[in-house]
Amino acid sequence: MHIVWGILQIFSAYVIRTSAQQISSKIHDGWWAYKDVVQGSFVPVPSFWGLVNTAWNLCAMGKRQSPIDIETSRMIFDPYLTPLRINTGTRKMGGTMYNTGRHVSLRPDKAHLVNISGGPLGYSYRLEEVRLHFGSEDEQGSEHLLNGQAFPGEVQLIHYNQDLYANYSEAAKSPNGIAIVSIFIKLSEASNMFLNRMLNRDTITRITYKHDAFLLMGLNIADLYPDTTRYITYDGSITIPPCFETATWILINKPVYITQMQMNSLRLLSQNEPYKIFLSMSDNTRPGQPLLQRCIRTNINFSKQGRDCPNNRAVRPQYRVNQWLLK
Ligand SMILES: *[C@@H]1O[C@H](CO)[C@@H](O)[C@H](O)[C@H]1NC(C)=O
Ligand SMILES: *[C@@H]1O[C@H](CO)[C@@H](O)[C@H](O)[C@H]1NC(C)=O
Ligand SMILES: *[C@@H]1O[C@H](CO)[C@@H](O)[C@H](O)[C@H]1NC(C)=O
Repeated sequence: MHIVWGILQIFSAYVIRTSAQQISSKIHDGWWAYKDVVQGSFVPVPSFWGLVNTAWNLCAMGKRQSPIDIETSRMIFDPYLTPLRINTGTRKMGGTMYNTGRHVSLRPDKAHLVNISGGPLGYSYRLEEVRLHFGSEDEQGSEHLLNGQAFPGEVQLIHYNQDLYANYSEAAKSPNGIAIVSIFIKLSEASNMFLNRMLNRDTITRITYKHDAFLLMGLNIADLYPDTTRYITYDGSITIPPCFETATWILINKPVYITQMQMNSLRLLSQNEPYKIFLSMSDNTRPGQPLLQRCIRTNINFSKQGRDCPNNRAVRPQYRVNQWLLK
């Protein structure tokens, strides 16, 4: 018995060592995935992100991670949350749309400054990227949940603090570095005008495969930022490795719409290059993370008095939460 046990120990030590070696040779910024890949090689899915790379420890150990489930009963009304200020520039915007293998991503051209401030933000933040998350089925696809319910998709407008930092990479790892405006995507007959530019058949089919890019001109980004007077905000993280806890999230209390056909074209995008097997990009979502001690604040004047929160200067909130999204 002892001998068998000893052999087992040696064997398992060997297995652990070789797999550790294989893993360390693979570690690089892009070595992560949302789903198990079918080709057989191991690529870390969300539950492993924080374990495979010490630079990504926060993905496993962090206490202020995103996304979260927004439980409306835990929201706190803060009447001092002013509307967001959005500066979309006077000209229409150009931008490049990419299939990154994980998301549909649109980056505004460098010359065009779109920035936001106000609301929960103490600084001015510049738009870096518009990123889409979506599901393989209509019942899933958003990263954030609302009372446990997912939406077919989520648009994230990722901004970095332009007052303090030179660029996105520097800001992403620094305090108050990032502000992400998040809008749930719902399905309807008509499409949001901005998303329609990205998702119409002629455009979306140009980025079917990983690394495909397509330049779009004459975009009106103001069409995408919705009516921003009502929102929900909390402090969290970026939702991809290294999961830095530098993001102020602003979830708009109003969805944007795309058509079922546009959703289907999104599902036909591949995570892979054209010469590799087709693997749908859909379900590119990190699972929900625990809220722990954090506050979810809102400027929606609702009836229930929330818990006490350091930022909550409301005395007796009266209104009911806007149920708009749940309809
Ligand atoms: C919140 O709603 C109550 C009840 O209608 C109202 O009296 C109060 O002024 C509102 N607070 C703010 C900041 O709008
Ligand atoms: C946008 O950035 C410019 C230049 O830094 C600044 O003057 C302006 O106030 C910002 N606008 C908003 C809405 O944050
Ligand atoms: C971002 O800014 C930092 C500090 O100025 C600089 O060292 C770094 O090279 C910049 N990175 C990119 C991608 O421009």
